[in-house]
Amino acid sequence: MTSDRKDEGTPAAAAPRKDAPARVPGQGGGATPVLRLEAVRKTFGRTVVLRDVDLEVAPHTVTALIGASGSGKSTLLRCANLLEEIDDGAIFLDGEEITDPRADPDTVRRRIGVVFQAYNLFPHMTVLDNITLAPRRVHGEPRARAEERARELLERLGLGGKAGEYPDRLSGGQQQRVAIVRALAGRPRLLLLDEITAALDPELVGEVLGVVRDLKEEGMTMVLATHEMGFARDVADQVCFLDGGVVLERGTAAQVFGDPREERTRRFLRRLVEAGRL
Ligand SMILES: Nc1ncnc2c1ncn2[C@@H]1O[C@H](COP(=O)(O)OP(=O)(O)OP(=O)(O)O)[C@@H](O)[C@H]1O
Ligand SMILES: [Mg+2]
Repeated sequence: MTSDRKDEGTPAAAAPRKDAPARVPGQGGGATPVLRLEAVRKTFGRTVVLRDVDLEVAPHTVTALIGASGSGKSTLLRCANLLEEIDDGAIFLDGEEITDPRADPDTVRRRIGVVFQAYNLFPHMTVLDNITLAPRRVHGEPRARAEERARELLERLGLGGKAGEYPDRLSGGQQQRVAIVRALAGRPRLLLLDEITAALDPELVGEVLGVVRDLKEEGMTMVLATHEMGFARDVADQVCFLDGGVVLERGTAAQVFGDPREERTRRFLRRLVEAGRL
C-alpha cells in the first residue's frame, strides 16, 4: 500500500495484508495474477474496440479502469467474464486460460462475480431468493446452506432486515448492495464491477462505494470501471486509462492522477477537473 494515500478516513487502511503482493501495480508482483489479459483484441463488425490489451490483476488488489465513454471499459469486463468472445489474444484466470475453447464458460463464470450498473434483480422474487437462485439452481447448493450464506452476507452489507423484502421496496443503493451480495454468494475469486454507482442518486453512491472499500479490506480482488475518479484514486492499487480500446497509461493511482505521463490522460483529467468531477 502506498504511504501517501489520503485515506485516514477508512479504517484498517494502514495494515497491509500479510499475503498481499508488493503494491507495484499489476506487473511482476510475484504471485500468479488472478486475472491476466494477453494481447486481447475485440472487434464489433469493423470497429476495433480493444486492441492488444494487456492487463495483470494481482491477488487482493483493486484495478480501476478509467477513460472516456466508449473507450472499451465495459467491453473489457465483459470479455473477462466471457460474455463477449475475443477475436485474438488470451485471458487467464489464476493462470488457467479461460479463452481456451475447451474451457467451460459456466465453470469460469462461477469463479467471477459481476455487478452491473443496472442491478437486474428479479422483481417477483424476494431479496433472499434473488441471492440464492444461482447458488441453488446453478451450483446445486442446498437451500439451507445457500440461505445461511445469503443472510450472513446481507448482514455484513447492512441489509440484515431485508431478506424477505421485494426489490421495489428497497432504495437504489440497497438494491445495488443486494446485487453485490448476489455476486458474492458464489464465493467468487474475482469481482468485476461496471459503473455500479452510475444509476444511483448522489446520496446513495457513498454507501455502495463503502461496500467496495470494505471488500477491499477483506482482500477481495476487484476490477472496476468507474467514472467516480475520487473513488478510483482512493481505492485502486492500479489505475488503467483506456483510450480508443488501448490501455494508454497504467500505474498507481498516485502516478496516473498525480503525474500522468500521456498527454491524452492529462487532457482527460483536466476535463474532469473543469467539470468539477475531480
Ligand atoms: N454489442 C456491441 N455491438 C457493437 N458495438 C459495441 C457493442 N458493445 C460496445 N460497442 C462499442 O464498443 C465501444 C466500447 O464500448 P464500451 O461499452 O466498452 O465503452 P465504455 O468505456 O464502457 O463506455 P461508457 O463509459 O460509456 O460505459 C463503443 O464504441 C461501443 O459503441
Ligand atoms: Mg461502460
